[in-house]
Amino acid sequence: MKNILVVGAGGQIGSELVPYLRKIYGNEHVVAADINSSACIHLAEEGPFEELDALKADRYLEIVKKYRIDTIFNLVALLSATGEKKPQLAWHVNMGALMNSLEIARENSCAVFTPSSIGAFGPTSPLDNTPQDTVMRPTTIYGICKVTGELLSDYYFLKYGVDTRSVRFPGIISNVTLPGGGTTDYAVEIFYGAVQHKHYVCPLPEGTYLDMMYMPDALDACVQLMEADPSKLKHRNSFNVTAMSFEPSQVYSAIRRRIPDFTMEYSVDPVKKAIADSWPNYMDDSCARQEWGWSPKWNLETMTDDMLRAIGEKMKKGLLG
Ligand code: SER
Repeated sequence: MKNILVVGAGGQIGSELVPYLRKIYGNEHVVAADINSSACIHLAEEGPFEELDALKADRYLEIVKKYRIDTIFNLVALLSATGEKKPQLAWHVNMGALMNSLEIARENSCAVFTPSSIGAFGPTSPLDNTPQDTVMRPTTIYGICKVTGELLSDYYFLKYGVDTRSVRFPGIISNVTLPGGGTTDYAVEIFYGAVQHKHYVCPLPEGTYLDMMYMPDALDACVQLMEADPSKLKHRNSFNVTAMSFEPSQVYSAIRRRIPDFTMEYSVDPVKKAIADSWPNYMDDSCARQEWGWSPKWNLETMTDDMLRAIGEKMKKGLLG
């Protein structure tokens, strides 16, 4: 990776991936692009930024040529719960951005990273220790886009030799940019609730296990996979990766051990519950470990310490609304 373009840079992952990549590859070699320039003010101060609607192929191509891009991180997506409210739009945006990324990559010899998700699995997948290669019949439009994206990315590799690589991310927990419209968002919001209000209303019921990962591990996964020796990759699109699996009462207890007067109540969102019930409780990520050395560093306890520290600092600085 020499000249990198991060599309959808203003979102939860992009807002941290861009600075992380800039530290490794140099600010001027990492271009941030997003439809929403106001979400990218910090990124635009530190390095190149381009306003881009990823559905506009001509403009996308112009940016790739201008910066001689060789690697694209395509992070454009509507998440699972939003997707269920606007399924046609989710398909249009998620698949449109991916198709443009793949075509531009094919014409300009770029590598492409597009995150897949636990959402690519469905109720007929084995939900415990979910294998790398198994039944994938998701019942959300988000998951349908993810499986289609995995197949399309493999197709571009097999047919055209485009260097496509991907991971199936679990819920990503972070403290820079909030996720929006996802089923796993509760695992981020609960920390803000604890610090700001000492109270949280949880949309998923107790006992709903889902895979999760702290952002620093997610950033490592992106770079490690894109830097991996291609001859070692038996899979490409997409690798199971996880760092921890928990259900709401476990993250609640972890926070309460640090903030004893924190309280939580449940007000179950039926759409989010149905989505979460169709997703793995925990995935088997041994292929990622074997093929490119995946090894997460953060667990529930260390992540809880760091999340509360970071959000507490934001609150002291008056950065929380
Ligand atoms: N975090 C995503 C969601 O909840 C899953 O990949 O939609």
